[in-house]
Amino acid sequence: MSPASTSSTHDPLIDWRREFPTAESTLHFISHSLGAMPRTVDAALAHYAQTWKTRGIRAWEEEWFQLPTEVGDVLASILNAPAGSVSMYENETMAQAVALSAVDFHGARNRLVCTVEDFPSELYLYEGLARRGAEIVRVRARKGRRMEEADILAAIDERTAMVAISHTLFRTSQVLDAAPIVARAREAGAWTLLDAYQSVGTVPVDAQVIGADFIAGGSVKWLCGGPGAGWLYANPKTTAALEPAITGWMAHHNPFAFDPGPIRRDPGARRFWTGTPAVPAFMAARCGYDVIARIGVPPIRAKSLRLTGRMLALADEYGFPVTSERDAGKRGGMVCLDVPHAEAVCADLLASDVLLDHRPGVGLRLAPHFYTRDDEVDEVMRRVREAVRRHESAGG
Ligand SMILES: Cc1ncc(COP(=O)(O)O)c(C=O)c1O
Repeated sequence: MSPASTSSTHDPLIDWRREFPTAESTLHFISHSLGAMPRTVDAALAHYAQTWKTRGIRAWEEEWFQLPTEVGDVLASILNAPAGSVSMYENETMAQAVALSAVDFHGARNRLVCTVEDFPSELYLYEGLARRGAEIVRVRARKGRRMEEADILAAIDERTAMVAISHTLFRTSQVLDAAPIVARAREAGAWTLLDAYQSVGTVPVDAQVIGADFIAGGSVKWLCGGPGAGWLYANPKTTAALEPAITGWMAHHNPFAFDPGPIRRDPGARRFWTGTPAVPAFMAARCGYDVIARIGVPPIRAKSLRLTGRMLALADEYGFPVTSERDAGKRGGMVCLDVPHAEAVCADLLASDVLLDHRPGVGLRLAPHFYTRDDEVDEVMRRVREAVRRHESAGG
């Protein structure tokens, strides 16, 4: 089949498209950055306002106090993790901060192993730990920003306290084989924290198979949950006795005792909570999580591989340099095209009806998701080619 011919494959996921108005009204290729809003968010937020208005303080007992647990359990089902193992925060950086605050970086075992390709927000957090005794080991990338699992394995030893790495890299969409890294870290006596933000919702992440102590992520991207909801899976088999230094009254086994301390932590997942939960954000986020949980990640992954494969074939046909991972076994949901005038091309397309973004070093970033039609892949690639040609002929 020529890459540019229209696929006749039956698409069992396309019926979900009508639940995402933005996907209907734009060429939506930005789910690696901001997933489309589920139609149900309107009603969820209206319900929140109505509850606050009519039930007042009673809303906590009736609904809001349970919400983070319920929302976390939807995520747990997506991660194949036990109920009660996922805690909610306002973003992933905070989720990681809580996990890291439970780890001791003093003494001979003070190293945190990460990679240069991890998301900057997390790298800044690790920099902060360096001021409190940690030695940060940043594993370097190979040519083309590719990470080799062997290089990460080689960086782990008896001085390693924590291995904190990405599951899918945000710039190149390379998926790392995390399970052997977790196994090596555990053998060396180190904790593991996986940044799965660019995976969960498009690349399967099975907490039981990977075995990590912590997995963190957010909701804005593939989970279509909007801003304000980050999350942390804490492995109940390995983390149940941890004492995070970043904590709060919601981590106490009885928050409403207003006990002045020392804190007696909840024996379950609430031990990783902090203060008052972000109720409206979690209500909105649940709408996206519910859809992903109902579809299941494996069919989303199959469609993603089919559509990104089509984009890569068209990129080759059009002569666009590809800077993201190509190998189907290792690529996440996004394709990066380092076309000439990428920044201006991105601005042009955004000014029309194409939603995409641009990152220094990798060029245009484009991603289909479960609501994308096959013909939109052809259309967006045509639109990129036209915009590149326009800028080239303008001599820009
Ligand atoms: C891989 C990865 N980790 C972390 C983040 C940042 O997460 P947050 O803003 O929720 O702290 C992002 C956001 O783009 C990301 O892509």
